[in-house]
Amino acid sequence: MTQDELKQQVAAAALNHVPQGEIIGVGTGSTVNFFIDALATIKHHIQGAVSSSERSTERLRAHGIAVVDLNEVSRLSVYVDGADEIDPSGAMIKGGGGALTREKIIAEVAERFVCIVDQSKLVPTLGKFPLPVEVVPMARELVARRLRALGGDPRERQSYVTDNGNLILDVHGLQISQPREFETRVNQIPGVVTVGLFALRGANVALIGSPEGIQRHDYL
Ligand code: 5RP
Repeated sequence: MTQDELKQQVAAAALNHVPQGEIIGVGTGSTVNFFIDALATIKHHIQGAVSSSERSTERLRAHGIAVVDLNEVSRLSVYVDGADEIDPSGAMIKGGGGALTREKIIAEVAERFVCIVDQSKLVPTLGKFPLPVEVVPMARELVARRLRALGGDPRERQSYVTDNGNLILDVHGLQISQPREFETRVNQIPGVVTVGLFALRGANVALIGSPEGIQRHDYL
């Protein structure tokens, strides 16, 4: 099976986690694009979606799925999103697609984070995938210096502006053995909008696409 077929398979499996008659949270990325396409087949069973990016909003609307402002929603039972890496505790690196800030906001509101990935995203330790950090532009060098002091090699994502008007530093060379502590430390650097480490609020469930079928991991 190709990687896209694995993504498509796992995206379809996530439909079983979509509650009837509710608004659901929808992430960003190529796996989520397959999920949005699958969601269109049951769109009459949901009220709508809160979207984590302009790209996902466009795709949801193209399918005739109502996109709802998060501020109009007091409760979300489920958020479905992909990841760049996920470790055995359910902590993730996210933001390869640049949507980490809105993703983290929606994940915080949702009661359950359902992570949809192909098996290549499972890692023993986070960090091989460069860690995205969204930064207010005037703080770029300050944040870069602090990230170097934490052992990373930050590189500005070229010709990229987030949906929130900020830049992204992709931090290479990390081995994140204590993701919750590392997330807290990076969050404390002035000028950091969001670190793409989702450990303090990790996944509740991961659906993992493999040639042998879908594996499910539940996290505490
Ligand atoms: C976007 C993300 C994505 O979930 C992550 O990059 C995985 O993307 P893909 O499904 O294309 O592999 O965090 O900001």
